[in-house]
Amino acid sequence: MTTIYPPEPFRIKVTESIRLIPREEREVKLKEAGYNLFTLKAEDVFIDLLTDSGTGAMSQEQWSAIMRGDESYAGARSFLRLKEAVEDIFGFKHFVPTHQGRAAENILSACLVKPNQWIPSNIHFDTTDANIRARGGHPTNLVIDEAYDPANLHPFKGNMDIAKLKAFITKYGREQIPFGMVTVTNNGGGGQPVSMENLKQVAQVYRENGIPFFIDAARYAENCYFIQQREAGYQNKSIKEIAREMFALADGMTMSAKKDAIVNIGGLLCVNDEKLFQNIRNELILREGFPTYGGLAGRDLDAMAVGLYEGLDESYLSYRLAQTAYLAKKLNDAGVPTIQPAGGHAVYVVANQLLPHIPNYEFPAQSLGVELYREGAIRGVEIGSVMFASLDPEDNTWHYPALELLRLTIPRRVYTQTHFDYVAETLIKIKGRASELRGYKITYAPELLRHFTAQFAPL
Ligand code: F0G
Repeated sequence: MTTIYPPEPFRIKVTESIRLIPREEREVKLKEAGYNLFTLKAEDVFIDLLTDSGTGAMSQEQWSAIMRGDESYAGARSFLRLKEAVEDIFGFKHFVPTHQGRAAENILSACLVKPNQWIPSNIHFDTTDANIRARGGHPTNLVIDEAYDPANLHPFKGNMDIAKLKAFITKYGREQIPFGMVTVTNNGGGGQPVSMENLKQVAQVYRENGIPFFIDAARYAENCYFIQQREAGYQNKSIKEIAREMFALADGMTMSAKKDAIVNIGGLLCVNDEKLFQNIRNELILREGFPTYGGLAGRDLDAMAVGLYEGLDESYLSYRLAQTAYLAKKLNDAGVPTIQPAGGHAVYVVANQLLPHIPNYEFPAQSLGVELYREGAIRGVEIGSVMFASLDPEDNTWHYPALELLRLTIPRRVYTQTHFDYVAETLIKIKGRASELRGYKITYAPELLRHFTAQFAPL
């Protein structure tokens, strides 16, 4: 894959102004926000790399499709157009739309998870993790060890550890495992892809044990592109062919369409099993809406139907992944450490390597995130001890995650080369005076999902 900045395979017809507010104002905004970047107003951010979820730019075809939206309560034409696309790309027997990915996870968990059951994945995304826990289940991450070594160049660092998976099933028993998952790409581990070979092995282990296999498909198209580029035997296959092969291995999938379907809202839940589908439909009606709209407007379904195909387009995918690789290389060339190789949707800066003088209990990735806003009005997201440190109720000690990361997440079709040069130059400037950065202490935090609303003070 090239690390030269790729020419965008589109030109720009509509613009949205962004404004770089003066440094003194940024300092005030930070203080007002309690140094929590989630609390900032979007209008005070110049380059927003908080998430790639729902933040993409829709195409003229998607906006046109929105005008065709059929807002009938039941059996809308929009639903039928989405159905055609979903069946064509994923090939499952049944599906329902949901308003976003976590709604699909909620319904699946409501249908399948009983208290004290175990659900394996490479790394569960935090909403999947929380939805399983909300039903009394135990989400468990069984990714290969290479995933936790930022410098390791393994081409498929999102792979499941097959030996760990087998031992896990032996330990807890197949009856206590209502389903198994794999997340493609593995967002919790650097946006790293899973190989087709590994997916086949995972599917076989699940099948041999009678455990239904669900794929978290949020970024499946990016994963398929990595397979085409990196895995022997796939160079001459189209992304859609690779996707069909991938989903044929599974019994179902959940998907946040806000990523690779390039829509601002939407999700999918697909299954083959008839009985499970009936239960899903009943849950959907209870929580989301009638099965032909699932909590979305008809126009949203049409935008998704078009976006699903745009997300599979090879000229788009090669541009997208080269854009991520470009930002990572620019940072690496200047000595800013990031998870290697660059993932699909984001560059993950290894904050504890850049700021070795700040201990994990003083939140190095938070400190770097705040400094990036102070220096350049750029917003990333902390994926480290603010988000994942947990207090052990048994011995009252804190457990800290293996990696302290600042994720620079790239919205789809939104920013250009000069934006990324600006991001890289700002971070490189910070690196030059890294030893001056100080840690933070938490002055307020709720018990669960504290990163969204915590307040901080500089040390
Ligand atoms: N699965 C994965 C792998 C995700 O990355 C996300 C969302 C979800 C499920 C949940 O989907 O947001 O539509 O309900 N990830 C976003 C992020 C929020 O910033 O990484 P959702």
